[in-house]
Amino acid sequence: MRFTVAIDGPAAAGKGTIGRALAARFGFAHLDTGLLYRAVGVRGGDPVATARALMPDDLARDDLRTLEAGQAASRVAAIPEVRAALVDFQRRFARAEGGAVLDGRDIGTVICPQAEVKLYVTASPEVRAHRRWLEVGGDAARVLAEVIERDARDMGRADAPLKAAPDAVVLDTSVLPVDEAVARAVAVVEAALRRGASGA
Ligand code: C5P
Repeated sequence: MRFTVAIDGPAAAGKGTIGRALAARFGFAHLDTGLLYRAVGVRGGDPVATARALMPDDLARDDLRTLEAGQAASRVAAIPEVRAALVDFQRRFARAEGGAVLDGRDIGTVICPQAEVKLYVTASPEVRAHRRWLEVGGDAARVLAEVIERDARDMGRADAPLKAAPDAVVLDTSVLPVDEAVARAVAVVEAALRRGASGA
């Protein structure tokens, strides 16, 4: 079976939590596509050459989750040749046998516009910054400023800007507790699987 769940949204909205829960529940593979851009950002050097030569080991580094890595990722992610170098890997992952969940910024709009399920997971900048601050600590005002700066860069870039696909189901985790957001996402996937099974 080929079945793709595309999850997009800004940093710390809960995409990863929902993506991992869906993957576990339905036995799908899960790819956090932000790691690809983080790995390119932290490797340094020419980002286009780095993106073209990215290896699985690069995604296993333990310094990819820092604020700095997030900022570096969002800078290299604005370069069209970097994005182009990462498209095939993501599309192959999305259509591999057994089903896949990908989370990122452009999965439902650019990488997999034909995904069977599209979710757009969002939350207010304050709620997202607070979550990030609980993970990374440090100066809370700086964490909020970084979230706002990264949103602006990701939403404002010319190539594959962050936005909801017109047919995405929106889940706002500032108002929905995480377990409820997961339950809604599960219901959306179940409905799409039923439609697929009945050939509708
Ligand atoms: O999701 P995460 O915070 O790890 O993403 C880091 C950065 O990588 C984002 O701010 C964004 O600029 C970039 N990114 C992207 N497209 C994706 C995933 C991440 O541009 N599909």
